[in-house]
Amino acid sequence: MDTAIGIIGLGAYTPERVMTNEDWSRLVDTTDEWILERTGIARRRFAAEGETTADMAESAARRALEDAGMEAGELDEIIVATDTPEVYTPDTAAFLQHRLGAREIPAYDLAGSGCAGFLQALDVARSRSREGGRRILVVAVELISRLMNWEDRNTCVLFGDAAGAAVIGPGEDVIEMIAAVSGTDGSQAGILTLEAGGTRVPFTLEAAQKGLHKNVVMEGRAVFKEAVARMSGAARQVLEKAGVDLSEVALVIPHQANQRILQAVAKNLGLPEDKLFSNLREYGNTGSASVPLALTQARDQGRIGAGDLVLLAAFGAGFHWGAMLLRF
Ligand code: ACO
Repeated sequence: MDTAIGIIGLGAYTPERVMTNEDWSRLVDTTDEWILERTGIARRRFAAEGETTADMAESAARRALEDAGMEAGELDEIIVATDTPEVYTPDTAAFLQHRLGAREIPAYDLAGSGCAGFLQALDVARSRSREGGRRILVVAVELISRLMNWEDRNTCVLFGDAAGAAVIGPGEDVIEMIAAVSGTDGSQAGILTLEAGGTRVPFTLEAAQKGLHKNVVMEGRAVFKEAVARMSGAARQVLEKAGVDLSEVALVIPHQANQRILQAVAKNLGLPEDKLFSNLREYGNTGSASVPLALTQARDQGRIGAGDLVLLAAFGAGFHWGAMLLRF
């Protein structure tokens, strides 16, 4: 059989602690009904005290390596997508390289692209793996619960913690990465941002006392509209690039931001809702981890069969967006 290059392993990790809407209603002025109706989220997972980004990344990575039938020592490169890193510097990929016992290979983070981070990293891995059949581990991980403002009902109820991973490389039974598109519109950078800690708003005692280090600025409605437009647009572009009609696609896995965003994307594309994968009810918005978590779950639940075309689409802070067409 030919040796093709594609995704050869998938894995995900979600922490055990469950945080329900009822739990939130005891902490901020909100209700289970409001959250469920506006977002489709009923529960989310939060990391345990003491658990860190690298712990979560390692768990997902080990599962993806096992799925690929590989040892960490066989990896040629590691890319980590995260907006909630282990420490400010160095990047989470450095910690992960050591934890996994990988060789002294290139390892780096793609940071700051929010919920679009995994697809951007996967696209980079896709092109870099063509150079000599390099085996690349891509991990997307977010430990948002520790860095968000637990008093801001506008944002805190949306998020959950998770990690997802994929191993890319040559193999006999790969998930083919047929086509990818991605894009950025930096003119809207201020609509979804966490400013403190950079050079514009340095980390000072005064900034911390004002809670700026947890001040995620989000214009919810603007983000909503843009997420629908960009994910639908990217989905159309990648289908056109691949010469595939949407009716041939077995499952669409969008970034899990909000059930109403997913429904609007489906409507915009003319996609029946049974072809749309959602795990929002159980996990909420897990940032960059949401696409690999959903992809792993969809496969493990038997939602994807051999030969199926699967379309991934994501959108996040920046704004950044991307889409990829896979064949199982
Ligand atoms: N509980 C109760 N009331 C709330 C809550 C809450 N948790 N949060 C906000 N409200 C209030 C608001 O304060 C507002 O009150 P007001 O009218 O008195 O000012 C009211 O609810 C209505 O607010 P809207 O903004 O109109 O609510 P909307 O229906 O747009 O839903 C939401 C808000 C869920 C944030 C929605 O805009 C959304 O999902 N936007 C996308 C944001 C997103 O997904 N961000 C994630 C990161 S980016 C990404 O993943 C793509």
